[in-house]
Amino acid sequence: MNTTRMIFRAIFIAVALFSALLSLPVVPAAAQVAPHDDAAAAAAFEALVPVLRHPRCINCHSTGDFPRQGDDSHRHTMRVHRGPDGHGINAVKCSTCHQDHNLVGLHTPPGAPDWGLPSPAIPMIWEGLTERQLCELLKDPDRNGHRTPEQIVEHMHTPLVLWGWTPGEGRTPIPTPQDKFLSNVQEWAAKGAACPVTTPPPPLGNNPRAKRARAEQGTSPIRPNEAGK
Ligand code: HEC
Ligand code: HEC
Repeated sequence: MNTTRMIFRAIFIAVALFSALLSLPVVPAAAQVAPHDDAAAAAAFEALVPVLRHPRCINCHSTGDFPRQGDDSHRHTMRVHRGPDGHGINAVKCSTCHQDHNLVGLHTPPGAPDWGLPSPAIPMIWEGLTERQLCELLKDPDRNGHRTPEQIVEHMHTPLVLWGWTPGEGRTPIPTPQDKFLSNVQEWAAKGAACPVTTPPPPLGNNPRAKRARAEQGTSPIRPNEAGK
């Protein structure tokens, strides 16, 4: 066998091997480890709800045109308002007091990058929502800042969210271990982002009487979340 033929043969074998490799079915990594599983996704979501309802989160995700403070979620003092973009009104911007890190000492402003409220257009109000409504809001691009479930997972890894575990002196950190929370979020999204079916008793502010009162005033900030659910 001459050298040229040997070289051609080697090339032929290499090409054959390569195309065999290419023809292997390509399965996305996420799908390989976690096929859709509605029950598991819904259970993972239920497990992360206590974090979403914790004051460290709800203080920026509550009804009203202002942030809240403390474990009792009282209205933010010093006439702080959401403002046109969520970052306060001209005279009192969040960044006037809040920096990208916690300040040292009791009752000093906490801080994280992008400290502010969601905008009035997409206020991301979670207060008063059932587990299912919360889940549906988090999946709804019109109400979640145009995010896919995967992008919700990413957002859960931002310093602003993770701040809840290191909230600064005098504030209760979120008790659910951070890695547990993040793996629940990941599991929820990877297994298809299904929502819990069970609807627990409506929490405070979501009872028929309060709804009627809000409808009469025509000012309910949480009504859009309830529409059609
Ligand atoms: C200082 C205020 C603040 C705190 C505290 C805060 N958030 Fe948010 N959150 C925001 C803002 C502002 C946005 C909108 C950001 C955007 O769209 O870019 C947002 C958006 C989100 C979103 C995406 C929108 C949605 O509703 O689906 C998620 C998820 C979220 N936050 C999770 C959390 C969690 C979990 C905590 C607590 C561990 C938390 N946030 C605490 C201000 C806050
Ligand atoms: C004039 C200063 C000032 C401005 C402006 C201000 N804050 Fe604060 N904020 C504070 C101080 C001080 C604290 C801490 C209070 C304490 O611990 O007793 C605080 C606490 C908070 C907390 C409580 C965190 C928790 O979980 O207990 C949130 C949320 C918050 N601010 C959001 C905002 C947002 C959003 C804006 C802008 C829309 C804003 N603040 C504007 C001074 C300010």
